[in-house]
Amino acid sequence: MKNSTITRFALCSLLLSSICANAQKTTLEVDIAKTVTKIQPTMFGLFFEDINFAADGGLYAEMIKNRSFEFDKPLMGWEQPNTKRSSLNMQSGAATPINVSENKTNPNFCRILINDDKGYAIVNEGFRGMGVKKGAKYNLSLKAANPDGSIKKIIFQLIDKDQKVMGETSIIPSSKEWKNYTSQFTAAQTEAKAKLKITFEGTGTIDLDMISLFPEETWKNRKNGLRKDLVQLLYDMKPGFLRFPGGCIVEGRTLSDRYQWKKSVGNVEDRKTMINRWNMEFSHKQTPDYFQSFGLGFYEYFQLSEDIGATPLPILSCGMACQYNTGELAPMEELDPYIQDALDLIEFANGDLNTNWGKLRSDMGHPKSFNLKYIGVGNEQWGPDYIERYKVFEKAIKAKYPKIIIVSGSGPSPDGEHFDYAMKELKKLGAELIDEHYYKSPQWFRENAARYDLYDRKGPKIFAGEYAAQSVSGANPNNRNNWECAFSEAAFMTGLERNAEVVNLTSYAPLMAHEDAWQWTPDMIWFNNLEAYGSANYQVQKLFSTHKGTDLLNITRDGKPLTGQNNLYASAVKDVNTKKVMIKLVNTASTSREITIGLKGSKIETKGSLTTLASAGLQDENTFSEPEKITPKESEYQLKDGKAQISLPPYSVSVLKLKIK
Ligand code: AHR
Repeated sequence: MKNSTITRFALCSLLLSSICANAQKTTLEVDIAKTVTKIQPTMFGLFFEDINFAADGGLYAEMIKNRSFEFDKPLMGWEQPNTKRSSLNMQSGAATPINVSENKTNPNFCRILINDDKGYAIVNEGFRGMGVKKGAKYNLSLKAANPDGSIKKIIFQLIDKDQKVMGETSIIPSSKEWKNYTSQFTAAQTEAKAKLKITFEGTGTIDLDMISLFPEETWKNRKNGLRKDLVQLLYDMKPGFLRFPGGCIVEGRTLSDRYQWKKSVGNVEDRKTMINRWNMEFSHKQTPDYFQSFGLGFYEYFQLSEDIGATPLPILSCGMACQYNTGELAPMEELDPYIQDALDLIEFANGDLNTNWGKLRSDMGHPKSFNLKYIGVGNEQWGPDYIERYKVFEKAIKAKYPKIIIVSGSGPSPDGEHFDYAMKELKKLGAELIDEHYYKSPQWFRENAARYDLYDRKGPKIFAGEYAAQSVSGANPNNRNNWECAFSEAAFMTGLERNAEVVNLTSYAPLMAHEDAWQWTPDMIWFNNLEAYGSANYQVQKLFSTHKGTDLLNITRDGKPLTGQNNLYASAVKDVNTKKVMIKLVNTASTSREITIGLKGSKIETKGSLTTLASAGLQDENTFSEPEKITPKESEYQLKDGKAQISLPPYSVSVLKLKIK
């Protein structure tokens, strides 16, 4: 046969098989009375990491970048537009960072010398600008010292990109010593790229530090709070857990820049600012102005978990820096401080007020325990060095807190030498919960829906802790949050759910990205300084987590689970509290598909609902201009003769919700 004939022949048979698959009606069976296993309430959760400006510049609502002048370049983020020379060849003013080395955690402040009345200003650029909304109030706070009383007033203005003033307030720096000042202003217009301009009345010297600006409206209107729109997106998912603070940020590029939770609690101004390890990680996406203020620290992570109804799941360094970077190791005989950090964290979360760390939690505003049940030892470590360290952590944690469940890691890949080694060793050690990570192609996700079908039911439980379909390849800046990736994840997620006996926790990663300051894509939620939207992947995650169920049911065709035969995937659950049955169906074919579901075991109300997420194009995406292009549509559904007959659209994820009588 000539090539063109072969191609025509192949096309015809493909077409024929697809017509046949769709012409035949597919009949599925669900036994509502038979619980296969209980589903953990933690089944679908969230992975948060400060990557892509997700914390500073994102979830953490602080609008001033480098508020305490502690970046490596202390004036980074601060412009001085009017430092032109006057006729006397004098600068109109100048800002000089001063380091008071006896203050160990916040040593720098800014000394400003005003020479004349030529309009010296210092301007903060925010995190790629500041998002302000017309009519909204903004709370300003700062520390100032006016040593010789010569500065009469400090004026703060929100300016737009054309320098127009959109809001103004001022303070009188009344003390020679350091003193805290607060004020508030209201924005006269909406602007995504506002800046804060500071000018002065009088000539002389003034010292400034901790210059901070927050919207008054934060999540629960908390001071030092979080962006309300972003938390709302998380809350709406009803997540089972919140993993924090990462990711590789836990490990650091070197051990000295690992995440140390103790440095992230207590007074906000005493939390030592540190570089963010993602700032220069990728040559294609450098963000040298990416630092961690720790204004969003461990107390705030626990509080956020509680607010959104999620079980907290902190992950700590195990004395190994990121093996993609230095792989620096804390020697075994020097592991104690790392282990102590883990023990103290449990005390911080759960300890009573007579304990040191429990008292700190209470002093910070939360006398009640945060009810910590899980702790992660290391993030994405691999090799014998990890296993050796894990053993020591496990022994120490279990000796003091036998009920705490320890999360161990299986490395960066769901297969291969490192993975196999970790699984073998962790199983031998009787590990309770193993974290698996997969950043793979959409096809991999479709082909691996049966991944856990053969996992040992008596072995360790699985935490699918980081996963996302990559439209191009892992860590590639051209990856997109497209519909093909999202529905392929949905197909895979039916496999996670079908295996709830083994898989206890799952989370998409990473969670958030700033439109103008990201390093890694794809990401579940995209935001800029004013707006945020959930990607198609977010919609898939939300559909699963809001239809989670308490009990797993079997859904089969000819007695077999649906793991992609003819592009069809399915899982079924019931919620014994609400008496709902929820059936998830994923059609990854380009054609629609007729399904009949036979329901046995319980009587069902004839009226239910059908929620469908679908989009015609594989490359379709939600965007800032079309944030709801791919969004669930819910309609009433009527059972016929006790059976469900459904037409699944091409490329679709559907949830059929029925009520048990
Ligand atoms: O999610 C982004 C990164 O991917 C995480 O920090 C790391 O654990 C993984 O390699």
